[in-house]
Amino acid sequence: KRVAVLASGNGSNFEAIIQAVEEGRINCSVELVFSDKPDAYVLERAKNHKIPFTSFMIKDFSSKLEYEQELLRILKENQIDILILAGYMRLIGNELLAAFPQRIINIHPSLLPSFPGLHGIEDAFNYGVKYTGVTVHYVDSGIDTGKIINQAVVDIAPDDDLESLEAKIHQTEHIIYPDTLAKLINKGE
Ligand code: GRF
Repeated sequence: KRVAVLASGNGSNFEAIIQAVEEGRINCSVELVFSDKPDAYVLERAKNHKIPFTSFMIKDFSSKLEYEQELLRILKENQIDILILAGYMRLIGNELLAAFPQRIINIHPSLLPSFPGLHGIEDAFNYGVKYTGVTVHYVDSGIDTGKIINQAVVDIAPDDDLESLEAKIHQTEHIIYPDTLAKLINKGE
């Protein structure tokens, strides 16, 4: 399978995925990294792993539709089968959803359907739940609403602060995301 990773920021999940691919644990080739933020650190990581990367901003286009059409053109040109979102901080529009039905996967840092949106870790922490976690799910047109593929629980201990919780969540993400992708992709889904 030919995979593209879409990311807007640090790219620590991309790093975990590419390591798993390099170790032969996920049966796919990462053909492209795309970022909607030209200064995102994920692009540096792509360069270090010799993965082709490209970046452009939505504000360079007159509409989100045109932005996605250009992205779709590049994805088609690269014959991409699966889109992996790794901290891609935008909703996927109809253009891409229609082109990749059940082929766009995301990771969210809470136990969905609790705490969707941009601040999943902080919202769970502030609510005071004792358990939160990580969800890998298919992407649909909603905010973190697609069909759930896998989840992992992270406990919030009495002495956790937001920072320590964030660290635990990210550690868990870096395990569950590659493992879940391996299960999905290796069995040909
Ligand atoms: C992760 O917490 C992920 O769950 C969320 O965005 C964050 C991306 O982190 N969707 P990174 O860029 O992979 O380090």
